[in-house]
Amino acid sequence: MSLFAFGDDDLARLAERHGTPAFVYSAAVARAGLQRLRAALPERVRLAYAVKANPHPDLLRLFADLGASFDCASEGELRRVAGLAPGRVFFAGPGKRTAELALALEQGVRVQAEGWEDLERLDALARAPVAVNLRVHPAAGVAESNRIIGGVGPSAFGVDEEALPDVLPRAAALTHVRVRGLHVFAASNERDAAKLLATHRMVLDLGRRLTEQHGLDLEQIDLGGGLGVPYAPGEAPLDVDALGRGLGDLLREHAWFRGELILEPGRFLAAPCGVYLARVVRTKESRGTRFAILEGGVNHLLRPLLTGQAFPVRAVGRAVGRAVGRDGPTAATTLAGPLCTSLDRLGTVDLPDLRPGDLLAFGTAGAYGFTEGMTHFLSHPVPPEVWVA
Ligand SMILES: Cc1ncc(COP(=O)(O)O)c(C=O)c1O
Repeated sequence: MSLFAFGDDDLARLAERHGTPAFVYSAAVARAGLQRLRAALPERVRLAYAVKANPHPDLLRLFADLGASFDCASEGELRRVAGLAPGRVFFAGPGKRTAELALALEQGVRVQAEGWEDLERLDALARAPVAVNLRVHPAAGVAESNRIIGGVGPSAFGVDEEALPDVLPRAAALTHVRVRGLHVFAASNERDAAKLLATHRMVLDLGRRLTEQHGLDLEQIDLGGGLGVPYAPGEAPLDVDALGRGLGDLLREHAWFRGELILEPGRFLAAPCGVYLARVVRTKESRGTRFAILEGGVNHLLRPLLTGQAFPVRAVGRAVGRAVGRDGPTAATTLAGPLCTSLDRLGTVDLPDLRPGDLLAFGTAGAYGFTEGMTHFLSHPVPPEVWVA
């Protein structure tokens, strides 16, 4: 499985035509990824694409046309998907403003309440019965290798599992709001289907307990995102068939639950379709370290700084009319961006001898790339995002 959505020739042409630095996205790769995952999952599992991973309008339209639902986490995201998938939108997020809750109600969006305050404010805003899902912060979960969701310690997300006996009876007494679903998101970038399924099993067990103890009538159980992708050559991809089979088994084991499961992958659906392109501005040796200083750095790809994990990178040969990256000798090269901070590093990787103007491609950059970047920092130009249909 390639970590790059395009071959060298296409990347060189795209860089020529659109300039660099730039993000390029392959519609074909995005479509194939969604269809592959959909085909592996039981029918009773709904796919809601997490818009935060990449809110590019063409990507959203493609996924909407393929029948996906959407997981939004801000007014901006709600507005981006407005009209694309009526009745197929969810709204999560730990700090929802009242105006955002009102917009969600107006748009018929299903709210994932993150605590008592969301329930209370929704109840005051609603004029008719409204079904919501309650986000629960579980007492146990998948251990994250990089702290993104935050593990099982204190959390800004959801209601702590142990607070449910207090919150659920109060929720049942509200006038308009009805808790008809649970939402638990406890993993991130997990490529091991068994680990994901262990969390999903825990969530269904929790759903059963809450149904028995609090008389909940659950029509949805949202298992969150967290489906992982490889970022380094040799890393095994998530086995989506195993995930699909496991979810089918769970649905059969939990016959009490007649509703639908929801998965909200962001990274898994968006990452593989994107490549970030940047040229080398200059190279230097400093006290034994070989540097290549690029046109863009953590202002465009912040993830290496946040998680310590680099994007896969390769030199694009054709761009400079010589066989860069093919057969020549390679050496460890530290990739620095143009920012005035030593935090601006995109990793240290084995690369051929680079020269100014050489083109580098960063793969798997379709998720949490442009959207997570600091594109205004130092007032460098904002990179174009090119959708290749
Ligand atoms: C509520 C919610 N759902 C889904 C996602 C998507 O996660 P991932 O991209 O890891 O699948 C996130 C990411 O932060 C999230 O907060």
